[in-house]
Amino acid sequence: MAQTSSKESNSAIFIIFGGTGDLTKRKIIPALYNIFLESRLPEKFAVIGTGRSKFTDAKYQSSLLDAVNEFSRRGKAKKEEWSKFASHISYQIANIKDASEYKEFGTRIDALKKEWKEDPSIVYYCAVSPEFFCTIAENLHKSKLENNEKTTRIVIEKPFGSDLQSAKDLNNKLLTIFNEKQIYRIDHYLGKEVVQNVMAFRFANAIMEPLWNRNHIEHVQISVTEQIGVGSRGDYFDNAGILRDMVQNHLLQLLCIIAMEPPISFDADVVRDRKVEVLQAMRKINPGKVDTIAARGQYGSGWVEGKEVPGYRDEEDVDSNSNTETYAALKFYVDNWRWQGVPFYLRTGKRLFKTASLITIQFREVPHNMFHGEEGNVPKQNRLVISIQPDMGIRFQLESKKPGLEMTLNTVDMVFDYMGKTKSESPEAYETLLLDIISGDQTLFMRADQVEEAWDMIMPVLDFWEKNKSANFPNYPADSWGPENAEALIAKDGYHWFNLPEKNKKD
Ligand code: BG6
Repeated sequence: MAQTSSKESNSAIFIIFGGTGDLTKRKIIPALYNIFLESRLPEKFAVIGTGRSKFTDAKYQSSLLDAVNEFSRRGKAKKEEWSKFASHISYQIANIKDASEYKEFGTRIDALKKEWKEDPSIVYYCAVSPEFFCTIAENLHKSKLENNEKTTRIVIEKPFGSDLQSAKDLNNKLLTIFNEKQIYRIDHYLGKEVVQNVMAFRFANAIMEPLWNRNHIEHVQISVTEQIGVGSRGDYFDNAGILRDMVQNHLLQLLCIIAMEPPISFDADVVRDRKVEVLQAMRKINPGKVDTIAARGQYGSGWVEGKEVPGYRDEEDVDSNSNTETYAALKFYVDNWRWQGVPFYLRTGKRLFKTASLITIQFREVPHNMFHGEEGNVPKQNRLVISIQPDMGIRFQLESKKPGLEMTLNTVDMVFDYMGKTKSESPEAYETLLLDIISGDQTLFMRADQVEEAWDMIMPVLDFWEKNKSANFPNYPADSWGPENAEALIAKDGYHWFNLPEKNKKD
């Protein structure tokens, strides 16, 4: 993660495979444009989009302008600014499966090097379906386009494998061509502003570390709920399910950031070592007891904001008898000195009541209650609520005296709410991540061993759910908080799921 405000590299070339695809339009180009507006892109840069369709540069640029107008956090692009940015963009038709078509990239790179009189960072961005990751790597290799370890990078989007074995195979393949230091495996949650702030919050405040352990923390909840359904991604999602789509990557990474030991520096490998240690310390799931630590769900139809929405099995490109889970809740333990006995509850799902990503740290009860008297005058447990999105902030829930003549307790919030900053003012995850790729900082990217440990962790649940079909899908209606078995999973330990405090219906 960039720790200075200067431009980290003098020149860069982005070659985007899948240059006409959804990810390029929704995320990559709007992010590049925004960092360009903030003068954070190198002075000399070029974006070469590639795809199978025929486009002139002008037509390609104009399709990207439409995308920026629709998806940029800043809204519509200003004509002059866009023109300046667009002058750096070109298009190259290519069949990514055909090695002979990669030569043209080499020619273009050489021409730019000559023109700039520099050795730019070269980023090969695989914004394509995972089946092409290896093909692209191999063809870059055949065309000798990957051979400068210092300046050449490859960016791989998720899903990184579909299980432990396929992730290992993919790693092995990529590592025969690229060095680990050249591979940027994206988990966009790591680029989110508040997620990065957790590190600052934990390690830049002396008061946090003494509290951050089993002596003071009772349990942790990590909750990523989404109001949207699978939409047009039925084909992908029906083969993946939410465990692969969200838990193996985003949620386990959040857990790692909460549970990791303090790194001695921000060096990418030091930080990633600490995270891998968390995954290694996590208690292995007993394949025979999956039902005791995991609950799954699939959404049925319902009404969202006055509109009727279909159940999962009626979504486009979804099997009408699908056993795929759209909701998962799991309980984990991290078996080390810091966290022994502290449960970590994770939940995520689609078509839920609210879109919110929250991490809640519930502290232990006071050891003795001296506030006798009126009913309810019992100190509530302190909570630290880290709200990643859509609200961005961190709040500490503390007990205080209610103003008045009696000693009555009242819960108050100490809130850091990003100083009222609006969403459009905070950088999108992809902006941070793209800048890091250009500057060669891998801190916020997944290393091979992280990805494999995370797969290893969830394999027993994946296997069990695949082999044992759920008898009661769909088991939660759209616009609800998920299936009852997920409530039961946490309730049997005496807790309940926390939702965002002010809109909290159940808490
Ligand atoms: C993606 C998943 O990685 O993350 C999607 O594939 C999910 O299914 C998305 O909707 C959520 O990301 P965000 O940034 O909108 O919370």
